[in-house]
Amino acid sequence: AMIGKGEYRHFMLKEIFEQPAVIGDTLHAFLNPLGRKVTLPELSFDLGNLPRVTITACGTAFYAGMVAKYWLEQVARQPVELDIASELRYREPPLPEGGLSLFISQSGETADTLGALQYARDHGQRTLSVVNAAESSIARDSDGVLQTLAGPEIGVASTKAFTTQLTVLACLAIGIGRARGTIDPAREAALTEALIEVPSRASEVLNHDGKMREIANWVAEARDVLYLGRGNMYPLALEGALKLKEISYIHAEGYAAGEMKHGPIALIDENVPVVVCAPSGPLFDKIASNVQETNARGGRVILFSDKAGLERLGDEAAYTVELPEVDPFVAPILYAIPVQLLAYHTAVIKGTDVDQPRNLAKSVTVE
Ligand code: G6P
Repeated sequence: AMIGKGEYRHFMLKEIFEQPAVIGDTLHAFLNPLGRKVTLPELSFDLGNLPRVTITACGTAFYAGMVAKYWLEQVARQPVELDIASELRYREPPLPEGGLSLFISQSGETADTLGALQYARDHGQRTLSVVNAAESSIARDSDGVLQTLAGPEIGVASTKAFTTQLTVLACLAIGIGRARGTIDPAREAALTEALIEVPSRASEVLNHDGKMREIANWVAEARDVLYLGRGNMYPLALEGALKLKEISYIHAEGYAAGEMKHGPIALIDENVPVVVCAPSGPLFDKIASNVQETNARGGRVILFSDKAGLERLGDEAAYTVELPEVDPFVAPILYAIPVQLLAYHTAVIKGTDVDQPRNLAKSVTVE
């Protein structure tokens, strides 16, 4: 059937607004029938004693993999390696016997990811893929498949594929933690409850659409934009910068906030918007001091945080967006939304072709 834009001006905006529903669909596929416990499909290998998980992907899917690295390490105490597919396949890394290689791809057809999958198979790895297209080459060539239920994604810049990938990967982290015996039942229950709340929290976040449009008016005037995050929000900073450059053609960089003092702080002035993704949690004090350093140099901050975070740090920001207070575990899924909306509205103001940005393809099936 033809897929339409409905009431939306662009597919990208429609896909951003579909997220509460498709995150919910995806989550429910990985919960037991009673709905309060993560249950992964039967796999041909044991998730409980993997010497290493090697995560590989391209583009936005790579940033989903980067969040998964933080999750697998923290929640499951699972050693993880991470690399972009075009590097992994040619640097000829030694892969440990009995290791798992995990591939993430919306299309399931990205040439570099498929090449990396072939490398992993040739080197005795078990292979597991997180794909949106169930009938794809990557799905077909993998030992196991965890499908995202995002539905067709038309906008070249990935949105709902990313948040559903995160949803699956969060379930995988819980599943591996249980199989390894590294997550205690109370913690598992808390993380699962936090995940179950994500679709309704995501709907709340979408209410900030108007506010994001207002902030985009300022961002659209910038030549460069910096995105900062720490911990599992660092990949969100990278994804935010990627989204903005893909569709608005404004130069943007994502940085680990703690690394700012080693370089990007030299760029700070009142003309460089600094987008800070900072939910309250164990790393909040650290990022607060990074924001203060930015301010001390005349920088102007767009702060995405929650009530407690904004009470602490809101005065230091030129713009604030209040997101729901959630377990830091699920924050990357929710903070993806304002980052997408900011890129979207900035691109609309700039008048670019949002759904078909120049020089980019939805699925890159050649090297
Ligand atoms: C292209 C798309 C991106 C996507 C990347 C990986 O560059 O424009 O949005 O993240 O490919 O695609 P995949 O289908 O493997 O997730």
